[in-house]
Amino acid sequence: MAEQKNHVIPLLTPYGMGNFNLSHRIVLAPLFRARSYNNVAQPHAILYYSQRATKGGLLITEANSISPTCQYHPNAVGIWSKEQIEAWKPIVDAVHAKGGIFFCQILHTGRVSDPDFKPNRQTLISSTNKPLTHNGIEPRALRTDEIPHIVNDFRLAARNAIEAGFDGVEIHGAHGFLIDQFLKDQVNDRTDKYGGSTENRCRFALEVVEAVVEEIGADRVGIRLSPFSDYNECNDSNPQALGLYMAKSLNKHGVLYCHMVEPRWDISGENKETPHTLAPMKKAFNGTFIVAGGYDRKEGNKAVAEEKANLVAYGRLFLANPDLPKRFEVDAPLNKYNRETFYTPDPVVGYTDYPFLEGSS
Ligand SMILES: Cc1cc2nc3c(=O)[nH]c(=O)nc-3n(C[C@H](O)[C@H](O)[C@H](O)COP(=O)(O)O)c2cc1C
Repeated sequence: MAEQKNHVIPLLTPYGMGNFNLSHRIVLAPLFRARSYNNVAQPHAILYYSQRATKGGLLITEANSISPTCQYHPNAVGIWSKEQIEAWKPIVDAVHAKGGIFFCQILHTGRVSDPDFKPNRQTLISSTNKPLTHNGIEPRALRTDEIPHIVNDFRLAARNAIEAGFDGVEIHGAHGFLIDQFLKDQVNDRTDKYGGSTENRCRFALEVVEAVVEEIGADRVGIRLSPFSDYNECNDSNPQALGLYMAKSLNKHGVLYCHMVEPRWDISGENKETPHTLAPMKKAFNGTFIVAGGYDRKEGNKAVAEEKANLVAYGRLFLANPDLPKRFEVDAPLNKYNRETFYTPDPVVGYTDYPFLEGSS
């Protein structure tokens, strides 16, 4: 139902996130698009991101690999080299020119990777030796003394992101990638100080947070978590406790935001039935709380109005509607996303050719 004139649209209200003045609550979710050839951001991303930038709107990049030890796709962007930093600069500048706020998502994939894409076909690393059933490739459990090096790679990636001009970073602790492989008890089978109790399983994530905070300042650090997700065969026997423990621990580091994926979100794209909610985590966390997963305009407005979230991240809808905030403002119909072109390498098709509403750009 369309709002009446002067009716407040919760998603379109301003919000102060730390030092950032957001003019609305609609966030571009991190979206891997497989168009960063040879792991370097490309000039066509200037148009893609600036199409989605608005004055005072928060954008989060696609996941950036933090080191060559997590090359998982030939066209997945990285942020470990000088060339990669330089390549991001004009993209960041274009977003800033439109008044956007731009965070860089940083990732280590761990066992979710393909040795074929790695230099010298290195063995995959993880918290465990257990392979993913779909590829059967056995990863190597990191030795305790190797873990500080990976933490340091996150630190360096954050430094690189700031050098590229980003306003901050989002640590990717979700979806079964390396950090999540430590967090979840159905994957982490370690017996050292990084395994066993919730506290121990969260140690790696929190060491990464601490290092990144130390490097760039807590007011520029967010983290993404998906305690309820079983994506990439990564689940936990008590996601509620895990999510709560992380939310409370993040307070100690004063991080800017916590971005959580809804329990209902399923990789199939359908919202599944679940009795769980993120409400206890939102309540426990002192900073900005971002939610994602299966939101539309109505649900996003409801979440903000009911204070279940400060901000709402949109993935597929923002991918297909570059002017999503405008469309939500006027309650316009939405373009449909085309799954077939999510991860194709074309620099235009399915990437920057989704139409704007007539008269907006
Ligand atoms: C094409 C595509 C690429 C994605 N890439 C990432 C990514 O790089 N990092 C991440 O944290 N999530 C990624 N996701 C998950 C989205 O950020 C988002 O959480 C998910 O699509 C659910 O939100 P939605 O229902 O609004 O699409 C991706 C999703 C899609 C569809």
